[in-house]
Amino acid sequence: MSNPDIFAPYEKLIEIKILGKRYEVPENNTILRCLQYLDMESVSQADLCWNGDCLSCQVWVRNDEKEKGVISCRTRAVEGMEIVRLSDEIALAAINI
Ligand code: FES
Repeated sequence: MSNPDIFAPYEKLIEIKILGKRYEVPENNTILRCLQYLDMESVSQADLCWNGDCLSCQVWVRNDEKEKGVISCRTRAVEGMEIVRLSDEIALAAINI
C-alpha cells in the first residue's frame, strides 16, 4: 500500500458490496476511505472536501428493503454493507472500482 498513514488503524479487511460486486476493504474506516483504498489515484484526485461540507460523497446503502443515503466521508463501512447507488461525483471518482 502506498499511503498507509491515511487509513485509520486496522487489523483485517472486511467484505462489502458495491453495486453488486464484492470488495475487501480495511475495517474501522469510512466508506470514502475504503473507496480510496480500492482506487487510490482517482478517489484521491476527486473534488471532495472529506469533512462533511460538500455532500458530494453521498452513497446509498441497502437497509432491509429500503435504501438509505449516507455521507460516505462520515460513515464507517461495516462487514456486509451493501452500497447500491453512488452520487455522480463518487461514480466518477470511483470509475475504476
Ligand atoms: S467529501 Fe464532502 S461531504 Fe463527504
